[in-house]
Amino acid sequence: MATASAKKWWKNAIIYQIYPRSFCDSNGDGIGDIPGIISKLHYLKSLGVDAIWLSPVYPSPGYDNGYDISDYKGINPEFGTMEDMERLISRAKRLGIKIIMDLVINHTSDEHEWFKKALAGDPKYRDYYFFRDKPNNWGSLFGSSTWTKTENGDYFLHLFSEKQPDLNWQNPDVYNEITDIMRFWLDKGISGFRCDVINIIYKNSLENGRPRLILKGREHYLNTEGCHELLKRFNTEVWSKYKTFIVGETILVTPDDAKLLCDENRGELDAIFFFEHMDVDSRGGVKWFKKRYRPHKLIGVLDKWQCALEFPANYLENHDQIRSVNHFGNTKEFWEKSAKLLCGLNLTLKGIPFIYEGEEIGMTNGDFRGLRDIKDIESYNINKAMKRLLLAHSIRRKLILRTSRDNARTPVQWNSSENAGFTTGTPWLKINSNSSFINIETESKDDNSILNFYKKMIEFRKASQAIQEGSYRKIAAPSDVYIFTRESRDERLYIYCNLTSYGRSVEFYGDRIVFGNYTEDDWDPFYLKPYEFRIVASNI
Ligand code: GLC
Ligand code: CA
Repeated sequence: MATASAKKWWKNAIIYQIYPRSFCDSNGDGIGDIPGIISKLHYLKSLGVDAIWLSPVYPSPGYDNGYDISDYKGINPEFGTMEDMERLISRAKRLGIKIIMDLVINHTSDEHEWFKKALAGDPKYRDYYFFRDKPNNWGSLFGSSTWTKTENGDYFLHLFSEKQPDLNWQNPDVYNEITDIMRFWLDKGISGFRCDVINIIYKNSLENGRPRLILKGREHYLNTEGCHELLKRFNTEVWSKYKTFIVGETILVTPDDAKLLCDENRGELDAIFFFEHMDVDSRGGVKWFKKRYRPHKLIGVLDKWQCALEFPANYLENHDQIRSVNHFGNTKEFWEKSAKLLCGLNLTLKGIPFIYEGEEIGMTNGDFRGLRDIKDIESYNINKAMKRLLLAHSIRRKLILRTSRDNARTPVQWNSSENAGFTTGTPWLKINSNSSFINIETESKDDNSILNFYKKMIEFRKASQAIQEGSYRKIAAPSDVYIFTRESRDERLYIYCNLTSYGRSVEFYGDRIVFGNYTEDDWDPFYLKPYEFRIVASNI
């Protein structure tokens, strides 16, 4: 029986994110699917992960690859059937792997029955959304407008694309519908949800926003009291009845906002994804306009969040970000070393590590030739917006190719065959040509590969109380070198991360080197090599 003090399973979990479209295609239509995922469960087991976060698999017209849901209780036929999904849940369970589903409840697809009925004038369903005679001045998250005119001449609100109308969470019917959906899936045996943009779902009012550059109007919907109230109700009325793990994707959060959202005594979310570390190289928080990446900025942000939260959800990659080895590593001279360093960092920080498909083999950004290779709706809208600003094609191409979310969505590279073992057909998105040597089959045979480094790091983590449960403290270090301790009752580990492509002199503490991404012969007592990762242990 669970008691209040019983240890929650997710506190020691390592979670692997699957973007189903790009994971593994079982039937040759070029689109990853659920039987494809089932066929790779043993691989995930051998990697050592405890749970899978599955990006949306619900029916969807696919304008935002499933983040525009048209039926919350079904399975997108492109991905398989409900039987396939049930089989996935039970097979995973047999292997001791839990499934967490994506829950997108800020908006539905405009092709959802509710929205269709609303457009047809049904008053019940009109109140599920926001229809107004005149748009307000709110800013959009996707570079388009936030209001779209209907055939009746009024407008509906969408913070994302016009294919994603926002739900009206002031309406109790919406609450009942969505909690019913949550129970439907939890009863099928899933273990929790990753809640999409959860901190913006409750709109206080639709008044005009104060003038500001990014997301005008956000004071009316960001982290509102109404949102906190909803989360508490979800928790007491649904989540707490199951042994769930609930992680919220939260935009523009500060550590103080996050503390409220994850405070165990308040009973809202278990963990949140913050974005601040993703934006250390963007100008004014606009990711399309990059500035030079400086590792000390990343270190500062990670340290701030490590200190603020008891269980941060740690990630360096997901389906919305570029590949971490491009972002924070070095794909030219130090691809392998820097990918291993990022693995070490992500898996030794305090909290719950998330690994995104392909990250474990050091997959890189897409090698797209031009805008025609890009499929993402966000990139498409930004391109349109930049065109309106009369930016030249060459500039738009450069900005979009290096930042598009499609960089992380290229199919997983399973082997060195023509379509990387992802499909026997034509892949929906171009496969990287480096799949000839960056692929799971090749790396699993090489003891020194990034993949095997992940496996060893995961094993090391699982055997270490200090890493799984210990305290965290940053230690003074030369700029761009991150040194921190993880400490439990019997053990203190010093974690060294040289986030630069040159060697750095550092002071070493501790007694014995127990892990690293260089071989023992290379270990220098006063010096970290480029992108060196090292764990030094000392007894207490
Ligand atoms: C989240 C998802 C992203 C999606 C957006 C709208 O940020 O991660 O992929 O486009 O929400 O649902
Ligand atoms: Ca398929």
